[in-house]
Amino acid sequence: MSENSNAIAVLTSGGDAPGMNAAVRAVVRAAINRNLQVYGVKRGYNGLLNGDVVEMNLRSVSDIINHGGTVLYTARSEEYNTPEGVKKAADYCRSLGVKGVVVIGGDGSFRGARDLSGAGIPCVGIPGTIDNDVACSEYTIGFDTAMNTVLEMVDKIRDTAQSHDRCSVVEVMGRRCGDIALQTGIACGATAILVPEKPHDLDTMVVDKIIATQATGKKHFIVIVAEGVGGSAEIAKYIEDKTGIETRATVLGHVQRGGSPTLRDRVVATAMGHHAVELLVNNIGNRVVALQQGNVVDLDITEALNMKRVFDDNLYNIAMDVSI
Ligand code: F6P
Repeated sequence: MSENSNAIAVLTSGGDAPGMNAAVRAVVRAAINRNLQVYGVKRGYNGLLNGDVVEMNLRSVSDIINHGGTVLYTARSEEYNTPEGVKKAADYCRSLGVKGVVVIGGDGSFRGARDLSGAGIPCVGIPGTIDNDVACSEYTIGFDTAMNTVLEMVDKIRDTAQSHDRCSVVEVMGRRCGDIALQTGIACGATAILVPEKPHDLDTMVVDKIIATQATGKKHFIVIVAEGVGGSAEIAKYIEDKTGIETRATVLGHVQRGGSPTLRDRVVATAMGHHAVELLVNNIGNRVVALQQGNVVDLDITEALNMKRVFDDNLYNIAMDVSI
């Protein structure tokens, strides 16, 4: 790829997240400000396989900062995840004449960016996923909005749980990561929080706790279950059988993935998008942008992918301590 090329491409990949649009906007504006042409690639890596790209201008990203979803659409591409797919995408990037590609998504998307970098197209990843499960970054775009959505929903559920003296089991997203469950569990005053990173013995962690708090006068209960633990309907039935308290289960699902991004998501997305462009302008690729100790930094993609996520045990212990 020519370092003198004056174009870059940007795509969103994997599950969408509120704030992706703010990142796309920042990439487009920062690039145009540096006299680069910008191509928007549609539907993740698929757009590089079937030539589905549009040239972006300053106005193509107007009025998107406040919208959830992604104007570039997104997908998980099976065809791209083959050596032939990567080569085809790299050849297409060369034909387009781009000096690099900004990839907004999670770990799966970064593996794609690493492979494309390996095929000669410098890529920069930006963590965009509601799960907050990118090990190298203390924050991923979309996390704050998703948690605030959960909070709003659980506050509503609490109203009806309170009226009926019930227990409500609420399942939130996060297949391998309990961050949404942990933080929303704290913020909505849950009696129990079940996350995939910790043992989740229903008798000691949920039933005994409900019975103990009931003995102190508590009459309604919220139990937050991460998707990675799952089984919220069965958990609700178990609680009802063991405690005699009427219990309902709610799976919040994809409502958590939409909605207008919060201030935090818009600001982090903008700073990360800007940083990604600075890297590509300087012909630096094969990097992931991350937030570390509140600062926007960048790391080698392979190094970033090899990092192990650290669950916040301290916050978890605080949650356990006060949910009595
Ligand atoms: O990674 C984000 C996420 O929302 C996870 O929390 C969830 O497990 C998954 O995506 C759902 O994916 P899909 O939209 O393909 O059902």
